[in-house]
Amino acid sequence: MNILICNDYEEMSKKAANMIAAQLIVKPDSVLGLATGGTPTLMYRELVRLYKEGVVDFSKMTSFNLDEYYPIQKSSPRSYYDYMRINLFDHVNIRQGESHIPNGEASDPHKECKEYDEMINACGGIDLQLLGIGGNGHIGFNEPGEYFEMGTHLVNLNEETKEANARFFEEGEEVPTKALSMGIGNIMNAKKILLIANGTEKADAIYDMIHGKISPKLPASILQLHRDVTVILDKDAASKFMFS
Ligand code: GLP
Repeated sequence: MNILICNDYEEMSKKAANMIAAQLIVKPDSVLGLATGGTPTLMYRELVRLYKEGVVDFSKMTSFNLDEYYPIQKSSPRSYYDYMRINLFDHVNIRQGESHIPNGEASDPHKECKEYDEMINACGGIDLQLLGIGGNGHIGFNEPGEYFEMGTHLVNLNEETKEANARFFEEGEEVPTKALSMGIGNIMNAKKILLIANGTEKADAIYDMIHGKISPKLPASILQLHRDVTVILDKDAASKFMFS
């Protein structure tokens, strides 16, 4: 793993945006795997800035998002569909129909998962996969469990994840209990992986991801087996790792 430790969230976001921009400069028709959540929002803002300055072009790329709540309406302001539209897609020249997100409106989630995997395979797999990490070590919505899920699948979100995500929902609004998530197999098949994390609440998961036993109980630990992973952290997320 190539591990970069930054002074703060802003530096982490800029470095990550630069790495995605570099991928698109070197290979404009890249297939990108994209992530949502609080962590990448500034990174997306930075990518939009780079696009507006003419540094990066999205017109030939294809993207697949890691996950989506299930069930959820695309029009819901809590959907990852809406998140991607607001944070990136509305501001750059991405081609219509080339930015894919698991469909939270699908009537048959298992069929949706199968078709999502087929689409990723038909594109030749993912060139660069962006990841955040949950406090419990989940990547995408691959929750700690007894085994690693290979393909896109329907997940029951665990309590810790629901609590962490409650901050994006209004009081009284129900936090979804399920999600569609790309599997660990999809993630590990990506040619390159970029994982970003900030804040002390991620420090334990980061330490275990890098130094812990490879186990589905800490899903991100599987990244130790990937040959091209870059981890960009702020000082807080790196705090346990740095002083161990
Ligand atoms: C969420 C998302 C993940 C994300 C992770 C961390 O539940 N489904 O894709 O990377 O958990 O989220 P955040 O960046 O908000 O801490």
